[in-house]
Amino acid sequence: MSTTLITNLSEAFTSDASATLIPEAAILIEDSRIAWIGKATDAPGAENVIDAGFRAALPGWVDSHTHMVFAGDRSAEFVARMAGQDYAAGGIAVTTAATGASSDYDLTRLLMGRATEALAGGTTYLETKTGYGLSVEEETRHARIASTVADKVTFLGAHLVPAGADAQEYTDLVCGEMLRRVLPYVQYADVFCERGAFNEAQSRQVLTAARDAGLGLRVHGNQLGAGPGVRLAVEFGAASVDHVNYLDEADVTALSGSWNRWDASSRTGSVGTVATCLPACDLSTRQPLAPGRELLDAGVQVALASNCNPGTSYTSSMAFCVATAVLQMNLSIEEAIVAATYGGALALGEQGNVGSLEVGKRADIQLLNAPAVAHLAYRPGMHLNGPVFRAGELVA
Ligand code: NIG
Repeated sequence: MSTTLITNLSEAFTSDASATLIPEAAILIEDSRIAWIGKATDAPGAENVIDAGFRAALPGWVDSHTHMVFAGDRSAEFVARMAGQDYAAGGIAVTTAATGASSDYDLTRLLMGRATEALAGGTTYLETKTGYGLSVEEETRHARIASTVADKVTFLGAHLVPAGADAQEYTDLVCGEMLRRVLPYVQYADVFCERGAFNEAQSRQVLTAARDAGLGLRVHGNQLGAGPGVRLAVEFGAASVDHVNYLDEADVTALSGSWNRWDASSRTGSVGTVATCLPACDLSTRQPLAPGRELLDAGVQVALASNCNPGTSYTSSMAFCVATAVLQMNLSIEEAIVAATYGGALALGEQGNVGSLEVGKRADIQLLNAPAVAHLAYRPGMHLNGPVFRAGELVA
């Protein structure tokens, strides 16, 4: 057993149930886990001691929503959007064509590059999705490649009906052979429930098939307009519903109802459907920012994620998402960090393992080149990334 003490931390934000900020802190790592956290003056001895140089510490980000398996460039689409064009899901087909033309080697290299960028930015637990394959062979290939890099993989065959295909026939394929083939590589299934993508009946079919196959569920819902996504996610007990830009009162009530048997003060009870807000995507598509404040006030557990993808959010910067949530969505810095760490862990069913600095959790710790975690929003856009530890190892 090896022990390492990270000491001389200006503060450590725990992201635990009481969202504690420990001043002048230290953290003891035993092998890959956190063994102790508290005031540096009370720290136990250790074989190795790391002087953090009075940096602030917080848990590594848990990015619970990305689409990182892709090739090609869509910056022209972004430029057109900034000039006033609306976002249309049809751009997905552009990425599907470029990705289909990439070798396994190139796709793996691209994905590893993006995961490495995310890690350098403090992301120590990463979900990614398929969804740019849209055929049995390609979706299976993307799921296999994703499973070699990401911590959790979500099957999103139901991302877009390929051009020329019949929507119902394609949905049947997603729920049949495609689902069977990706199963060895994925833990979750997702559906883009939106006008122009999959309607309520098709989304219901996808969620039913995925649930019957034993997968966890998530839904892309209410991104571009009001719709049944949130309601379906809650009805199916999905782990998360992501985007949540256009919510009516009934959507918020349904989400908060799913947390009725959850005790937030002790973080015990039964987990509901996490509302995952994707502020970088909202800005890049000029959609209204998701109502994170209202959701928190209604008792909904919220996650913040990057949605790193080539169409609507080509960034893996969770620090940017946190700063936006504080500056433009009215979350406190503590709420935003909790959403980007523990919230993501809840959305991925990993809340017992990662997402907070607590004894027994995996030692996923990021240090900031700043004396306070508040600098994440106080100095938006600045490169504050210090050393990153994943499972107790210094990885960036
Ligand atoms: O989460 N909403 C659907 N999927 C992605 C965008 C995909 C794309 O345009 O390439 C999203 O925003």
